[in-house]
Amino acid sequence: MYDGDIASVLISSEDIQTKIGELADQIAADYGSPGPGEPDLLLVGVLKGAVMFMTDLARRLPVPTQLEFMAISSYGSATSSSGVVRILKDLDRDISGRHVLIVEDIIDSGLTLSWLRKNLESRGPASLHVVTLLRKPEAAKLDVDVSYIGFDIPNEFVVGFGLDYAERYRDLPYIGTLDPSVYA
Ligand code: XMP
Ligand code: MG
Repeated sequence: MYDGDIASVLISSEDIQTKIGELADQIAADYGSPGPGEPDLLLVGVLKGAVMFMTDLARRLPVPTQLEFMAISSYGSATSSSGVVRILKDLDRDISGRHVLIVEDIIDSGLTLSWLRKNLESRGPASLHVVTLLRKPEAAKLDVDVSYIGFDIPNEFVVGFGLDYAERYRDLPYIGTLDPSVYA
């Protein structure tokens, strides 16, 4: 698949799945099972990049979860965001009083996430935390409040496992870097 487009495999499918299991164990230990009459943990995934991570994470979590999705677009170039965000698809339900865990594919500058955090915080959740599969150095420098991080990666554009370049490569089971010929 995608012959010649992928320059290198940065994180293998096996390593991703092992990490998701570890993240699931940590999250389950922190949240526990809901008590009688308490609502389930609500996962809020950011379309489309977080879909693969969210579905695998939900299947590995030994506590009940409900799944919600939001689609947002941040104004900027194809490979970087500006922090000016528009909601393309909002949540289907109210999150007030709910324990909410935002599921992100990647945090780069952190601008998208800080906007999303503020937006969801204003809706009155019982708690709000973030899990991200990947984090780039710029975000690591900023003070972005992220409770669970899969992998810190170099400042390179990556694709696969939900992440795209021009809507392609989301279906790869690993994270890879693109060959420069793809941009040309
Ligand atoms: P910020 O800078 O706001 O950006 O933290 C987060 C969003 O930017 C996209 N992004 C990437 N998408 N490969 C991708 O396919 C990358 O290496 C990459 N870096 C940032 C992504 O949509 C993310 O949610
Ligand atoms: Mg994208």
